[in-house]
Amino acid sequence: MQIPCTEKEVFLFNQIAAAAQKLQMPCFLIGGFVRDKVIGRPTKDADIVCMGDGIALAHEVASLFSPKPVVAYFKNFGTAQIRLPELEVEFVGARKESYRSDSRKPEVAPGTITEDQDRRDFTINAMAISLNKEDFGRLIDPFNGLEDITKKIIQTPLAPLQTFSDDPLRMMRAIRFAAQLGFTISPETFQAIIDNVHRIKIVSQERITEELNKIMVSPQPSVGWDLLFRSRLLQEIFPQMVDLYGAEYIDGKGHKDNFYHTLQVLDNISAKTEDLWLRWAALLHDIGKPATKRFEEGHGWTFHGHEVVGARMVPKIFNRLKLPLNEKMKWVQKLVALHLRPISLTKENITDSAIRRLLFDAGEDIDSLMMLCEADITSKNRVKVKRYLQNFELVRKRLQEVEETDKIRNWQPPITGELIMEKFGLSPGRPVGLIKDAIREAILDGLIPNEYEAAYQFMLQKAAELNLQAVE
Ligand code: CTP
Repeated sequence: MQIPCTEKEVFLFNQIAAAAQKLQMPCFLIGGFVRDKVIGRPTKDADIVCMGDGIALAHEVASLFSPKPVVAYFKNFGTAQIRLPELEVEFVGARKESYRSDSRKPEVAPGTITEDQDRRDFTINAMAISLNKEDFGRLIDPFNGLEDITKKIIQTPLAPLQTFSDDPLRMMRAIRFAAQLGFTISPETFQAIIDNVHRIKIVSQERITEELNKIMVSPQPSVGWDLLFRSRLLQEIFPQMVDLYGAEYIDGKGHKDNFYHTLQVLDNISAKTEDLWLRWAALLHDIGKPATKRFEEGHGWTFHGHEVVGARMVPKIFNRLKLPLNEKMKWVQKLVALHLRPISLTKENITDSAIRRLLFDAGEDIDSLMMLCEADITSKNRVKVKRYLQNFELVRKRLQEVEETDKIRNWQPPITGELIMEKFGLSPGRPVGLIKDAIREAILDGLIPNEYEAAYQFMLQKAAELNLQAVE
């Protein structure tokens, strides 16, 4: 083997070679597995391409193992999968395939290994390793993928226009690999992306978003988002992000470029957490800014209420991008809505009541929120940055102190709606809500302690104001 494999992998490849020989079917390891082994990245699946029926080969390989693994196969695509403890292996017959420009349906025909390599997306993904008796382990690298890995270059094996027209998702994949691997897209390949952006429309949103999520969990996601922007793919797939770009000037007064600010915040948070959803919250935290931008005479640019507008945009964006419309979306929405709260607590107004309210509103998510707010500091002015960070330190300290005494995180007010209804013989309705809210506000404002007896007395007082009689 010309690539560093584990003993188990070599054993498995020998078994595949034996099965292929029995069927007289030449076969090769190809694609991401070869690439990642050369780079030294972890691998979890391997693609095998054979000159014949991939499903038949998969069955033959499976029969060599005991217990026999399940072969999952898709007749329409001619592919089969075997899941082994150390590796998932996918088998497919070599193909020459191309997508007609007006349709998503590929025209597929059996091909040779060379034809199969020709139709792959990038030189670094087109390397194959022979699993055949005569040259087992030999690297077949017709497009110098090895050299491109050394030079950290992403380029297509054939003319990029053809490769991208075969499957326009590859434009997204080029950018995703650039972000994931820290590689550069060759100028010719990048130009072809620019020239073909409109063709991304024929690709399903699910496949596009899968690439976006891969960009999101890459070490420095700004690399991917910047390439999406510069290639103009972003205009096609996520125009609201593009609206953040640029700075306007009136009377010599400008505002910061919210697109690059956002990317900086995203990178800042990515240095601290691998959490995909916290990274999405960072990407969307200022998404409401373009819609709320105003120029106020004598004051400058403002974005009042952008956190509210932004939070409202989150479900629409998730829906469009086909991201899950579940509690993850609600979580991102909550962080977007609250992202200004900690920073609005300046030294002068860090009252216990403000801290309690923040703890109550953020609940369990206070640490993620604080992380987002710290990532949001992108000022180049070092004095300002120092001041903000010191202030956050203070906010964190106060949050801890107030939490220790008041236990507001995950807090439920001591008087329930049921108790109010029972005490005053009420059915669910406005008076119950009024009393409940009044108790909660009184505790958060520090008017009464966070205790049952005090809250009970306060309930009686509120009820009297509403002319409600207690029932015996
Ligand atoms: N491939 C391609 N065009 C695509 C998708 C895939 O040419 N649109 C080829 C590439 O040779 C690729 C291989 O199929 O290496 C396997 O594809 P896939 O599993 O999607 O990607 P990997 O390269 O393995 O990378 P990852 O697992 O990170 O997605």
